Amino acid sequence: CVSVQVQAYLQPFRLSVEKLQDISARLRRDLIRGLGKHSHHRAAVKMLPTFVRATPDGTEKGDFLALDLGGTNFRVLHVRVVEEEQRVLKMDSQICAIPQDIMVGTGEQLFDHIAACLSDFLESQELKGQTLPLGFTFSFPCEQIEIDKSILIRWTKGFNCSGVEGRDVVQLLKEAIHRRGDYDIGSVAMVNDTVGTMMSCGYRDQSCEIGMIIGTGTNACYMEEMKNVKRVEGEDGRMCINTEWGGFGDDGSLKDIQTEFDLIVDKLSINPGVHTFEKMISGMYLGEIVRLLLVRMAEDKLLFGGQLSDALKTEGSFETKFISEIEEGDAGLENGKNILTALGLKWDLNDVRIVRLVCDTISSRSARLCAAALKTIANRIRINRGLDHLKTTVGVDGTVYRKHPNFSQELQDTVRLLAPKCTINFLVSEDGSGKGAAMVTAVAQRLALHCV
Ligand code: BG6
Ligand code: GLC
Repeated sequence: CVSVQVQAYLQPFRLSVEKLQDISARLRRDLIRGLGKHSHHRAAVKMLPTFVRATPDGTEKGDFLALDLGGTNFRVLHVRVVEEEQRVLKMDSQICAIPQDIMVGTGEQLFDHIAACLSDFLESQELKGQTLPLGFTFSFPCEQIEIDKSILIRWTKGFNCSGVEGRDVVQLLKEAIHRRGDYDIGSVAMVNDTVGTMMSCGYRDQSCEIGMIIGTGTNACYMEEMKNVKRVEGEDGRMCINTEWGGFGDDGSLKDIQTEFDLIVDKLSINPGVHTFEKMISGMYLGEIVRLLLVRMAEDKLLFGGQLSDALKTEGSFETKFISEIEEGDAGLENGKNILTALGLKWDLNDVRIVRLVCDTISSRSARLCAAALKTIANRIRINRGLDHLKTTVGVDGTVYRKHPNFSQELQDTVRLLAPKCTINFLVSEDGSGKGAAMVTAVAQRLALHCV
């Protein structure tokens, strides 16, 4: 039995279809504002040009290195793209841990660590003597000057290394490699993880022109008409735009849907006041929203007989993966019991049911907000092309999307409802975005050859 008081706490998280349409319309205005020539410094949604002008056409080939930094795992990869096979033939990769103290240490320590991981990998692959081009997936907002010049605007998610904001990430990487002096790299292509995801899916499905991440953070990119990209010269063709939709709401435009719990999550984060939308959606924050709700409900004696545990009182103790485990169809209640016990709580069956309802409400809001944002993007592409109906593919990645039992279904159902003029096919990326970063490097080479 769920009390009226429990429902009262959950009500502000339930967003109607009308509200979602309204949110989608607000994002639409922000996308246009962000694309403007000068306004992006102040714009909440930054709309960053990526200098990626084409998706793969299947003729790319070569040998590449890739780095993938900013999601749950830091990866180093070696990708061999073979033209005749129309697919990536070979891929070796290695996960390399980034210790917490490096995530919030100095930039020099971070890049020295990256360069050291790459060195170990090259050693193990017997590639040290070669100078291979490198695709660098760097999943943070960057002002890209060219494909190989990319200035970090600000750290997001759990990273906060000093001396990197405002600097060219490619230069910092090259300096770290030169400090070592035991190997070298060729040309570098910088990509956001959304772009890497779109490109790696684009190799399988050429109508893939949106990339979306719902993982530690959330973001999307899409192919925009060059004539609308005011910050880059040229009117012809298209360019991929990294929206950085995580920043939606940073100018206060989402105040009406932010709950008191969202405000606490923001205040306790390492970047208060920024990435408002991301903090309502992504894996770094969902568990904490649930925890804050459970604490409040227990304090109000709606849960656990009014008893809290030290574990539940500790920030970050309710992991986002618990939400997925508790919402699991058959095993969910059993998982819930185990998780609550491990958190030192005294529960009865009704408590477990309420906890499951809280998890469902929070993950559902996340999926529906993503759907509203995706509708905005798909609709923009449709209108850009003067179409009554658009059929397109979105390449997706991220642990929330991949691991949560009903997230993807709810997202897809909601988009269908919100965007009846768009048919969107969802393609989950295979082996992450590093492959896509290699593809960007390969496409850049193909285009360079065509220019000659
Ligand atoms: C990985 C991609 O598969 O997903 C990364 O290779 C991306 O580039 C990541 O950042 C996003 O998901 P998460 O959940 O690891 O943040
Ligand atoms: C954060 C980053 C963004 C990235 C997203 C998903 O929002 O700012 O660049 O794409 O996380 O990883």
